[in-house]
Amino acid sequence: MNETIITAEKATKSYVTGSVTTHALRGVDLSIEKGSFTCIIGPSGHGKSTLMHLIGGLDRPNSGTITVAGRELSRLDNSSLARLRGEKIGFVFQFFNLLPGLTARENVETAMMLSGVPEKEQAPRALDMLSQVGLADKADARPNQLSGGQQQRVAIARALANNPEILLMDEPTGNLDSAAEAEVLEILFKLHRQGKTIIIVTHNSDIAARAQHIIRVKDGRIAP
Ligand SMILES: Nc1ncnc2c1ncn2[C@@H]1O[C@H](COP(=O)(O)OP(=O)(O)O)[C@@H](O)[C@H]1O
Ligand SMILES: [Mg+2]
Repeated sequence: MNETIITAEKATKSYVTGSVTTHALRGVDLSIEKGSFTCIIGPSGHGKSTLMHLIGGLDRPNSGTITVAGRELSRLDNSSLARLRGEKIGFVFQFFNLLPGLTARENVETAMMLSGVPEKEQAPRALDMLSQVGLADKADARPNQLSGGQQQRVAIARALANNPEILLMDEPTGNLDSAAEAEVLEILFKLHRQGKTIIIVTHNSDIAARAQHIIRVKDGRIAP
């Protein structure tokens, strides 16, 4: 039987800026199976990133519930939520968010520092992650010595650092040319074959065509 790893029930999120309230999510229900590959699509500004932030525990809903790996996130205080995030979830964003002063290996290691990986194990593990994304030979390079596609692969290696079950990717190929995009996609499909649960926001119709599930977000709701 398929196991559910993420659920949202009647999740809403509004942002208040000055006198303006934006209803980014107006009541979202979804469930994601463990080991599945899900694509989230929809127009810009309709709530896709907000949904990713909620299911990744980076932000909290105004109402409704989010459950990840059997834990209802609203029951967790901030430090428990951060721990769950660190153990279960890897994030990859459109802008790679690498630290410019650190090498590729050191960037991957940053993800291990908070999760208590013993210092001796950090470097070998980071090198292993980098080789999984085809960058074993770039471990000592800094971000400005890497192409966009290579930087994004470092970000994926960093997301994998704590062996998370779930990978959340918000337009990870939005800044890449098509060759770099293809390389990143092959890595994602490989990770899926290895058993990771993958959720990706994308405008790329090829990815959507290869995904097992497609979730359409429109006006803060899931479109039928
Ligand atoms: N931190 C924020 N503060 C205020 N408004 C926000 C914030 N984040 C997102 N929004 C607004 O919420 C709506 C949904 O945004 P978002 O989830 O980023 O959409 P998408 O990822 O689909 O482009 C948009 O109208 C956006 O301007
Ligand atoms: Mg977005």
